[in-house]
Amino acid sequence: MHDFHVRRGQLYCEQVPVDRIASAVGTPVYIYSHHTLLDHFHKLRRAFRALQPRICFSVKANGNLAILTLLVQEGAGLDIVSGGELFRALRAGCPPGRIVFASVGKSSEEIREALRRKIFCFNVESIPELLAINAEARRLGCAAPVALRINPNVDAHTHRYITTGTAESKFGVSLEAAEAFILRRWREVPAITLLGFHLHIGSQITKSAPFLKAIRRVGALIRRVRRAGVDVDYLNLGGGLGIVYKDERPQTAEAFANAVIPVIQRLKVRLILEPGRFIVGNAGILVTQVLYVKPMRTRDFAVVDAGMNDLIRPALYGAYHEVAPTKRNGQTATRLYDVVGPICESADVLARERRLPVLKPGRRLAIFGAGAYGFVMASNYNGRPRAAEVLVKNRRWFIIRRRETPEDLLRQDVIPSALVKS
Ligand code: LLP
Repeated sequence: MHDFHVRRGQLYCEQVPVDRIASAVGTPVYIYSHHTLLDHFHKLRRAFRALQPRICFSVKANGNLAILTLLVQEGAGLDIVSGGELFRALRAGCPPGRIVFASVGKSSEEIREALRRKIFCFNVESIPELLAINAEARRLGCAAPVALRINPNVDAHTHRYITTGTAESKFGVSLEAAEAFILRRWREVPAITLLGFHLHIGSQITKSAPFLKAIRRVGALIRRVRRAGVDVDYLNLGGGLGIVYKDERPQTAEAFANAVIPVIQRLKVRLILEPGRFIVGNAGILVTQVLYVKPMRTRDFAVVDAGMNDLIRPALYGAYHEVAPTKRNGQTATRLYDVVGPICESADVLARERRLPVLKPGRRLAIFGAGAYGFVMASNYNGRPRAAEVLVKNRRWFIIRRRETPEDLLRQDVIPSALVKS
């Protein structure tokens, strides 16, 4: 599952003690396992080998250039949602022909840049966006390859902030609207080439059933438009595969593939997948250090040097992340802790009511499952430079993002001289 394990009381990432890295680069620091990352990618590819899908890693889950580069070298494509991510994807050496571009709000600059670069496909989220892409493509004198993102109105049974395929959600086009446009108004978009359809019904989904339901609904649409003579080559299933944070029992890649492959084969479409969390979630931890212990009536606060600005998932979604000391020194006494950050917000709680060995300042804690939607969602709130990122490969480790400095935080600020008293 992942390559973080305890050996002689010490937490290791692959063959390197986590404490050795933390001593060298300081805390907070994100540490990723090279082997875990690639292992998850290969697991998915193996499970789906019968279909030879395009697997486009979702950059939004973790956009570090080193990580993207590794995945691209293994043959992954990339799923992007902005011009910024396009820039990143190209810097990581991703051939444009392996890039898919979703987002409900693509600007005309972003559309033009993606067209110029000749990405594989736009995942289009509304009819007005389709018309805008058509207009940009005409202006540039090229064709725009497109998959229409369908909102199949399926509940993915996940956190309401990360469910995206129900009728109330802002994502995608309804089945009816898509069919009506394709059958009656397609001549309005002569510069668009329809490759197929796109789905992404949510994230951290632990069962195959919602995916199958969504595919069934899109499948019916595919059959109807094909009957009208429209070619449909691709179905993009999006991301969303759940992982273990606590006691979840997500379907394995194998079980997911076994459920999906026959349905896709019957539909005679080529498959695209956009996993994020599945690949990188459990491949990363956040290491932090206890600054103070504040005794309280029912439990103690362990105040640590990582906050919601480093890992926002607990504050934003009430997400559970396993917490454990990086070293067990044979000690048996435990206490109940809330692990809290230094940010001036009551929501800045990384873990609630955890039984941990008695903590002292200087003790390091590892926060697990931090590889996806961890560093990418970090901010500089409260004037805090963002953490360093480290990648471990076997016995070696590499800084893949330097810790920000206070100077980095001021770089874009401008004091207009006209406003300053001389
Ligand atoms: N494709 C599309 C169109 C997406 O919107 C997403 C994620 C993915 C693929 C990748 O999904 P994954 O395989 O990682 O589930 N910040 C939240 C998750 C937001 C997911 C947004 N979309 C969290 O920390 O749980």
